[in-house]
Amino acid sequence: MEPADIQRVGVVGAGTMGSGIAQVAATAGHDVVLQDVDRAALERGVDSVESGLARDDDVGPGEAETVRDRISTTTEMEQLAGTDLVVEAVVERLDIKQDVFDSLDRLCDDETVLGTNTSTLSITTIAAATERPSQVVGVHFMNPVPVMPGVEVVVGEHTAPETTGLAHGFAEGLGKTTWESADKPGFVVNRVLMPWINEGIRAYDEGVASKADIDAGLRLGTNAPMGPLELADHIGLDVALHATETLHEELGDRYRPAYLLKRKVEAGDLGKKTGRGFYEYEN
Ligand SMILES: NC(=O)c1ccc[n+]([C@@H]2O[C@H](COP(=O)([O-])OP(=O)(O)OC[C@H]3O[C@@H](n4cnc5c(N)ncnc54)[C@H](O)[C@@H]3O)[C@@H](O)[C@H]2O)c1
Repeated sequence: MEPADIQRVGVVGAGTMGSGIAQVAATAGHDVVLQDVDRAALERGVDSVESGLARDDDVGPGEAETVRDRISTTTEMEQLAGTDLVVEAVVERLDIKQDVFDSLDRLCDDETVLGTNTSTLSITTIAAATERPSQVVGVHFMNPVPVMPGVEVVVGEHTAPETTGLAHGFAEGLGKTTWESADKPGFVVNRVLMPWINEGIRAYDEGVASKADIDAGLRLGTNAPMGPLELADHIGLDVALHATETLHEELGDRYRPAYLLKRKVEAGDLGKKTGRGFYEYEN
């Protein structure tokens, strides 16, 4: 299957992320089946899509209704049969995700590609619940989905190159830019972002500065759009804690200076000023 062949898209879970994914997929012209076990969550999800479309300057008022009508909602997983690609965005629990993937594997066509929006769980472990691990891939959207420009494509141990290519093509078709990560804890973004947030919280707790000054320091000192404490609030402290606990369990103490950092300094590769650090520069 080529990205252009993806017509019908399934989204499992109609919460914060699922409703956003349904919105951007429908805006890009896909027919979307949005499934959730909870009827009230589906209603909230559709409300969120409608208000999201109303806020989207690229979608005119007449068009918003057409886009909205491309999304059908259901509590029955069987309705996902006949989709070309499914993105799972249910709660961040391995047992629940594996149940969902087991069901999707049974009811979807053989060619259907199954994506997961997991932030911290292993794609390989989720894929192990299916008989099609080569067609399982991480398609990690960022929150809020309609606003954030990037999607992280995560390659599981058995993910086939065609599946990875399809995930990139699908996300690009939604107007996103993609990057790729191996199936290692936290992938790229959360692996780097969570210690940053965690250290901001520690700095506050240890009296380094006020909350406002820590956030201002990181905003003004690094040009980040938000400081660590405000970003933690934005993500949800429970979500941040869960992600950090997972990383801690998997990776242990990440705060010692990285070996590669020391090696590069010893080699004199100091960054832009020497023409070479992690990248190369023409001075
Ligand atoms: N919120 C974020 O900032 C963010 C960012 C990136 C990735 N994620 C990931 O996206 C996924 C969803 O997160 P969220 O914030 O949208 O969660 P959420 O709690 O807002 O929504 C989850 C939805 O899944 C539904 N659900 C639960 N079990 C289900 C099942 N068996 N079948 C169908 N639906 C089921 C729930 O009813 C709920 O509506 C998680 O894996 C999370 O790690 C979240």
